[in-house]
Amino acid sequence: MNNLAENLANLTKLKSGVERLTLTDFRNYASLRLKTEIAPIVVYGENGSGKTNILEAISFLTPGRGLRGARLADIKRFIPQITGKNEYSFISPLNWAVAADVIKNDEIYTIATAVEKSAKDDCENEEFRSFERRIVKVDNTKLASQGDLGKYFSATWLTPQMDRLFRGGSQPRRSFLDRLVYAFDMEHAKRTATFEHLYRERFRLLKEGKNDNHWLDSIEENMATTGVAIAAARREQIARLNAFIENEPDDVFPSVRLELDGKIEKLLDNKPAVLVEDEYKNMLSKQRNFILDYENLEGVNRSDFKVYYRKKGMPADLCSTGEQKSLLVSIILAQTKCQTLHQGFAPVMLLDEVTAHLDDVKREALLEKISDLNIQAWITTTNPELFDSLRNDAQFLEVRNNTIISF
Ligand SMILES: Nc1ncnc2c1ncn2[C@@H]1O[C@H](COP(=O)(O)OP(=O)(O)OP(=O)(O)O)[C@@H](O)[C@H]1O
Ligand SMILES: [Mg+2]
Repeated sequence: MNNLAENLANLTKLKSGVERLTLTDFRNYASLRLKTEIAPIVVYGENGSGKTNILEAISFLTPGRGLRGARLADIKRFIPQITGKNEYSFISPLNWAVAADVIKNDEIYTIATAVEKSAKDDCENEEFRSFERRIVKVDNTKLASQGDLGKYFSATWLTPQMDRLFRGGSQPRRSFLDRLVYAFDMEHAKRTATFEHLYRERFRLLKEGKNDNHWLDSIEENMATTGVAIAAARREQIARLNAFIENEPDDVFPSVRLELDGKIEKLLDNKPAVLVEDEYKNMLSKQRNFILDYENLEGVNRSDFKVYYRKKGMPADLCSTGEQKSLLVSIILAQTKCQTLHQGFAPVMLLDEVTAHLDDVKREALLEKISDLNIQAWITTTNPELFDSLRNDAQFLEVRNNTIISF
């Protein structure tokens, strides 16, 4: 066993993951309580039974908008009402909540998250004065920032939406990469949110024709510093994963090569960050007059994350559906291991319908890898028979009628 493998095995001897999960008015669940083991957990049930919703609830124990990237307004339980012929409406409880006892290297914490109504004092318009935000608590103490959740719990995930990751626009790939960074750099989530906010603010000013140069200068300066920090963190993450993958087996889950394609990221190849910040700032200010198109502004908002099937030298977008899924599995397995080594405890894996495009050999190989990792992995399926080889190692939960009916 090499050093990394030994460190990993030592860390996963200590248990980390969700031990108890409680959902209240969350999606299709009025109230759900689960006790779970630190082991693979197969969540099965028919389409629409509520499997993904359970994984989504767990993803809210980490910063951000969860594994569906949902709007807060969509999460609280809707109860459909038929109000007349072909007329429907919804009633909803006021709020939703997710609470969990999580264990981190054998120590227990209680994480809770819910929505809180807040008021913007500086907003004149009454309609917009109140807004909702997700608050997080650990052991009943409110955390200043969602990013701090990473000290207690973390998760990696693969969802069916990611099947289209390598085809189409770059935005989902950027988000995917940024999420890989979060566990290594707790500031990254804040940085990307700040950049997004500045970006919109700059766009709004230009669109409204408010050419307040002083204000624009200050926004662009901020965008440049935040943007360069984003680019640097992305570069670091790609380098970290590529180095780790070099030592990973190239088996049914092929070895990948990861690349970052972005103007600011490239500039950092041979210039110190302070000079790149200046260049970025000048670039933004030059684009003031002729680029008003939200999508076209150059910078870290347009960088792309490229993946290659290493042995074939094939870009992921030209790989088959099953190959693309295998490349994603390779990345997530590498990320999960790297994350464990970096943060000193194992993340939970959330694998939604992960075996859908995998052949029998690959499915079994994946289950073996998950068992070997010795961590908590939530796996959803409509067909639990495909997971018979985990019968002795995994907990099986059946979802039916908006609850879990068997253990
Ligand atoms: N806010 C909400 N309130 C109530 N029900 C919701 C809400 N959001 C989604 N649902 C419903 O929850 C049900 C379960 O959804 P979920 O995506 O978890 O199903 P699933 O078991 O993963 O199904 P599949 O096998 O098709 O992926 C769906 O019928 C969906 O319409
Ligand atoms: Mg689902």
